[in-house]
Amino acid sequence: MAEKDVYILGIESSCDETSAAVVLNGRKCLSNVIASQIELHRRFGGVVPEIAGRNHLLAVMPVVDKALSEAGIGMDKLDAIAVTYGPGLIGCLLVGVAAAKAMAYALGIPLIKTDHIQGHIAANFIAFPQLAPPLLALVASGGHTSIVSVEDYNTFVPVSATLDDAIGESFDKVARILGLPYPGGPEIDRHGRQGKANIKFCPNLHVRGDLAYSFSGLKTAVVNYVHNLRQRGEEIPVDDICASFTAEAVGYTVDTFIRCAKERGKKNLALAGGVAANTHLRSQLAAECEKNGFTLFVPPPVLCTDNAAMIAARGYYSFVAGKDEAGLDLNAKSVL
Ligand code: KG4
Ligand code: ZN
Repeated sequence: MAEKDVYILGIESSCDETSAAVVLNGRKCLSNVIASQIELHRRFGGVVPEIAGRNHLLAVMPVVDKALSEAGIGMDKLDAIAVTYGPGLIGCLLVGVAAAKAMAYALGIPLIKTDHIQGHIAANFIAFPQLAPPLLALVASGGHTSIVSVEDYNTFVPVSATLDDAIGESFDKVARILGLPYPGGPEIDRHGRQGKANIKFCPNLHVRGDLAYSFSGLKTAVVNYVHNLRQRGEEIPVDDICASFTAEAVGYTVDTFIRCAKERGKKNLALAGGVAANTHLRSQLAAECEKNGFTLFVPPPVLCTDNAAMIAARGYYSFVAGKDEAGLDLNAKSVL
């Protein structure tokens, strides 16, 4: 796209991962350093925003240094810095934004503000160097569940979003009620593979006619089911509950996404966000895409969960189009 090589440093700190990455020409990941705080938050059963913010502060510059050294370049080689400015936890976002501003100012290079959701989608541009818009993307993460129509590299049109909980949030809450450690998504994935999907929690999910997602009813149905068993002193069939919950959540997510693709006449479908690491979601969506003649793109798990390479990839397309350049007054936003 650009005539000379473009090196973008990406910085991501919207939740509990501090990450910095160097991406060449929006496609080639030269480094992607991720410092996870999962261990710190595990004993609280979820992310504690204050603790996360303070730890981003400790991690951000060492992570940036490591990203540059792993990429084998000095700061002088950077063309721009792309940073997640929202959506996310405000105290966490502010750390990445402040670090990016300081570096961009000191180096005299552009500061590119980047939308975290669009970043998740751009992970596909790294994983699949030949992939180009238009495409329809499903972002399934701990904070978001949305379908986005990517018209071109800088035009992301929201099509549908969740009315309440995000899909990953519902995985994490179901895991918590079952006494499984945080983050619950991978635990439910693992237990579900050993169980049978023999419990119906919310059979009406599939008959909803519109494209908007809603996961709180399903989550509440699982919570009530577990409470009832506990009150009666009965054994909790953890593996079967995980398999049944996953089947309903994933079935509903896939059905809605496929219906949307058919309605909109889209052929290229992309998956993004932490829940894209779910084995059931990956295989069911792949099977449905094959059946319907769609081409599916799913990045490897390390590019699905929060990382800065996806932010640098998204920022590259803004940079070459002269868009999204921010001043030193850039503020973080919890909601965009
Ligand atoms: O994209 P991400 O790293 O952070 C947000 O932007 O939210 O997504 C984290 C979410 C968590 O809810 C986590 O439980 C979920 O992704 N997750 C999974 C799996 N791996 C991570 N959910 C289901 N199955 C998995 N294998
Ligand atoms: Zn995310």
